[in-house]
Amino acid sequence: MKTTVLTFANNKGGSGKSTTCSNVAYALATLSKTKNKKVLMIDGDMQMNLSLSFFGEDEVLGFNESEDNLYHALERGKDIEKCIRHTEFEGLDLIPSSMLMSNIEEVLYKNGGDRRVLEKLLKGLIKDSVYDYILIDAPPTLGLWVRNILQASNGVVIPVEASPWGLFGLANMIGYVEDSAKENKGLKVAGIVITKVDVRKNYFHQTEELLKSTGDIPVFKTHIRVDSSIEWAQDNSKPVGAYRKSSRSAGEFKDLAKEIDKIDF
Ligand SMILES: Nc1ncnc2c1ncn2[C@@H]1O[C@H](COP(=O)(O)OP(=O)(O)O)[C@@H](O)[C@H]1O
Ligand SMILES: [Mg+2]
Repeated sequence: MKTTVLTFANNKGGSGKSTTCSNVAYALATLSKTKNKKVLMIDGDMQMNLSLSFFGEDEVLGFNESEDNLYHALERGKDIEKCIRHTEFEGLDLIPSSMLMSNIEEVLYKNGGDRRVLEKLLKGLIKDSVYDYILIDAPPTLGLWVRNILQASNGVVIPVEASPWGLFGLANMIGYVEDSAKENKGLKVAGIVITKVDVRKNYFHQTEELLKSTGDIPVFKTHIRVDSSIEWAQDNSKPVGAYRKSSRSAGEFKDLAKEIDKIDF
């Protein structure tokens, strides 16, 4: 089994990275009886939103206090396997972040500015084919830590919010990915997914047309509409597909997961 490492990144905050990452992960793990994927999620953000998507606040605070989280694995440069937590869903695991990730740039620079720390940490898991997918939720930054994430990735999914400012800074983000791809030849942009679409407003069509007219970056057919079920689900530490299976967004995330699963990385 080949492990595909996919990162959800956009330096713009609030674009839907954590929401898309958590829900696509669940969708891949529950595609259908014969097609369910084994998925490891990595929470790369100090805000711990991905961790909170599957675990309650007390548990997440416990992860934060523990030595077995992403921050400490990066700091010690080994034993990332010890950080893996099983979610309540079969085949869906998570490596939690830590609030100390606010300090990660300094740690990485102190260790010589290595861009391959994460790649080296994941090597064993990938070699042993433990997972079909490793999905990484990136923070809204473009520093050495995100460079480490991109160095370890096969593909990048870029969630873009359908809003007047949704595309601001996107060229910068794509430039950063292209620059990272010079060092990591295997890296490609899987696509842009337009999120938080409100059909009553015109921004979706504007955003989609602009994206299609400007270039060669693929845009996913599936877009994610605004759905309050998503927030209710997050408030209950569940993906929307488990919280409200019949919701519109649960179907959309499933469609997006199928599109992603068809890409040859
Ligand atoms: N499709 C959606 N419908 C409703 N709320 C959404 C949707 N997608 C994201 N949100 C909300 O928008 C906020 C930002 O999303 P989030 O995934 O945290 O973005 P990011 O990780 O890029 O900062 C969160 O409060 C989330 O609940
Ligand atoms: Mg986030």
